[in-house]
Amino acid sequence: MRLAVFGKPVIHSLSPRIHGLFADQCGLNIDYRAIEATPANFPGLVAGLAESGGRGCNITAPLKHEAWKLAGRCSESASLAHAANTLVFDGPGNIYADSTDGMGLVNDLNSLPGCRLRGARICLLGAGGAAASVLGALLGSQPEIVYIANRTRSRAMELARSHSGLGELDFGTPADLDTAAPFDLIINATSLGHGGEATALSPAWFTAQGFCYDMNYGDAARPLQALCKKECVPYSDGLGMLVSQAALSFSLWTGQTPDTIRVLQELRTGPAD
Ligand code: ATR
Repeated sequence: MRLAVFGKPVIHSLSPRIHGLFADQCGLNIDYRAIEATPANFPGLVAGLAESGGRGCNITAPLKHEAWKLAGRCSESASLAHAANTLVFDGPGNIYADSTDGMGLVNDLNSLPGCRLRGARICLLGAGGAAASVLGALLGSQPEIVYIANRTRSRAMELARSHSGLGELDFGTPADLDTAAPFDLIINATSLGHGGEATALSPAWFTAQGFCYDMNYGDAARPLQALCKKECVPYSDGLGMLVSQAALSFSLWTGQTPDTIRVLQELRTGPAD
C-alpha cells in the first residue's frame, strides 16, 4: 500500500515511523514516504501518488488548506476547519478529505488520568490552523464551555463565529483569562514553543484538578513543559495526539484499528520487548 505525508518541512516527521509500527502490528506491507511539497507543486504530487496506485496521504503544514480544496468530498470536521490532514484516494479523480486532528486530541485527552472533557471548562490558547483543526471535536465532547484566548482578538472571534451553534463558546485575549478562569483544561494550540518560548500561563487560571495539554511535542513542547513543572500543573505534551490522529488516518486507509498505546510507549521509551 503506497502512502505519504506531504509538508514543508517534512524531513523530521514521525509519521513514517508511526505508520510503519501500525502496519507491523496489523501485518500489512506499506510504503509510507515523507515528501516535501509547496502549495504550487502539491496538487501534482498528490495526483501522481494517486495515479501510481497510492491509497492516500497525510498532510502537514503548510498544506492542510490546499488538501481540503483538492478533495471532491470531505468529512464534517474537514469542512469546519477548511483543512484536511488526511486524503483517501477512492478511485480515479475521487479524493475524500478528513481532519483527524480533533478526534486524535479528544481520544488522547480521554486516555489521560485526571483529564475529563464532558462538563469541563476548557480554554484553547491560539486561534490559528492548529486551534481550528480541533475546536469542533472539543465542542462535540460536551464541555461546559470552550474559551478561545488569542493574542489577536479578531482571530479568536472569527474562529468562535465559524463554530457558533456547536456548543458554548466565548473568546478573548490572554489578558482576559484572569476574569474568564478557572479552567479544568487549558490546551496550547499556539506556535510559540517553536520559537523556544512558553505561552504565558498562570496557576490561578486552573481549577484544583486543572490540567494543561500542549498540542506540540518534542523541542517545541519543552518550554511549556518546564513552566508547568515549575508551577506544579499536571501536564501532557501532544505526542499522544499525534499517534491518535495517525491511527484514525490509518483506519481510513486500511479499515484496521491499531493499538496506539503500544506505539506511543515505543516512541517515548523505545521498543517494549
Ligand atoms: P498553526 O497552523 O500552527 O496554528 P498559525 O495559523 O500561524 O499556525 O497560528 C499560530 C497561532 O499561534 C496563532 O494563534 C498565533 O496568534 P495570532 O493569531 O495572534 O498571530 C499564535 N502565536 C504565534 N506567535 C505568538 C506569540 N509570540 N505570542 C502569542 N501568540 C502567538
